[in-house]
Amino acid sequence: MGIERTLSIIKPDATERNITGVINRVIEDAGLRIIGQKRVHWTFEQAQEFYEQHLGAPFYPDLCKFMSSGPIVVQVLESDDAIAKYRRIMGATNPVDAEPGTLRRRFAISMQQNSVHGSDSPASADREIALNFAPDEIVG
Ligand code: CMP
Repeated sequence: MGIERTLSIIKPDATERNITGVINRVIEDAGLRIIGQKRVHWTFEQAQEFYEQHLGAPFYPDLCKFMSSGPIVVQVLESDDAIAKYRRIMGATNPVDAEPGTLRRRFAISMQQNSVHGSDSPASADREIALNFAPDEIVG
């Protein structure tokens, strides 16, 4: 597996609790480099576009409302095998299923307010990074 990039989001439930630094510490300790990062506040429409693959899911409207309810931190992470590596340290989507020690097990409040997002494939990573970052905002 070569060097990869993945898109990470520290979600509104985490920015609200002032734990972005703790999460970044875990990311960096795992060997992922934060090569792009900014704190933004999405509109409802930006959340709809980002999560368009879930259009039609029962949780989609609430998800878009939640993701535009407060500040988020969007990040580009880089390392060998970055996509799988970040998904391992995030843990399962539902915190009750997440392995002990993972970010979601430690910090998530619920399936929706699950503190972090990470791309699920190289194609998703490319799309999600392009939606959130201009090329000159990524400094590897
Ligand atoms: P994320 O990794 O950002 O990708 C889609 C998000 O939708 C997911 O994390 C959860 O926050 C949310 N989600 C997925 N499944 C459900 C569900 N069954 N109920 C509520 N929210 C969900």
